[in-house]
Amino acid sequence: MNETLRIIDNRKSLRGYDSKEITLEHKKLILHSTFRAPTAGNMMMYSIIEVADQKMKDKLVKTCDNQPFIAKAPLVLLFLADMQRWYDLFEYSGVQELCKERNLAYDTPKESDLMLASCDALIAAQNAVIAAESLGIGSCYIGDIMENIEIHREMFDLPKWVFPIALLCFGYPLREDREDRERTPRFSEHFVYFKNKYKRVKIEEFEAEFADRFKDRKDLFNDAQNIGQAMFLRKTGSDFAAEMRRSVKVAIDDWIE
Ligand SMILES: Cc1cc2nc3c(=O)[nH]c(=O)nc-3n(C[C@H](O)[C@H](O)[C@H](O)COP(=O)(O)O)c2cc1C
Repeated sequence: MNETLRIIDNRKSLRGYDSKEITLEHKKLILHSTFRAPTAGNMMMYSIIEVADQKMKDKLVKTCDNQPFIAKAPLVLLFLADMQRWYDLFEYSGVQELCKERNLAYDTPKESDLMLASCDALIAAQNAVIAAESLGIGSCYIGDIMENIEIHREMFDLPKWVFPIALLCFGYPLREDREDRERTPRFSEHFVYFKNKYKRVKIEEFEAEFADRFKDRKDLFNDAQNIGQAMFLRKTGSDFAAEMRRSVKVAIDDWIE
């Protein structure tokens, strides 16, 4: 393995941070790597807000499903899928008038633009994660930033065509976090990597996969009878997932209006 592959292989989400500030040099290097990420049509359909205000971090703890470590992260970056910047330029540039003159269709951003802008934002975010990791800085995504859209819009002055797709917390590890915590397991390759055609997973394959992975994890089950039920109760069927569903629907409906 080379150094880059080792960094990718060893990375684990970090949720406990040293209170030490991220040095300016490290921050600049992370941002530089972020901006060098591939971007559709080189349009950079994303923006980043650094959440520097401690009161705002404290509020995010609550609005992002009560995750206290957000407040302790020395660097918090909000990644936004952003079509507002381009549509502002189109307006300043008389694009609508041009379309009228030339009989071309003009449309405001739609679902595809949100998808593309979200791809841009997340690809840039992952560059930040890997760059940080290479500098000895750990990170953790907070997907719950997609919840409570009304509150987050107000907090960050987000206009119509800007959607908060991911929050990233960064920090140097606390001493205890440096100890070798096991990496989280992944699905076996044949679950996620196919040749030529998609392949659905059979119940026996799930059972074989999970027999080992969850054999000492009865704690995950609670009152569920199997891992499918347990995962549904903990994730997809949870209160936070319901809030995310509501919030994202509001955001998409407003975006495509
Ligand atoms: C889109 C996305 C959203 C996530 N949201 C959260 C979150 O809200 N809180 C959290 O503690 N971890 C969050 N994570 C981290 C995952 O839980 C973590 O990546 C996963 O358990 C695998 O562990 P690892 O990153 O240590 O390999 C998120 C990760 C991704 C990619």
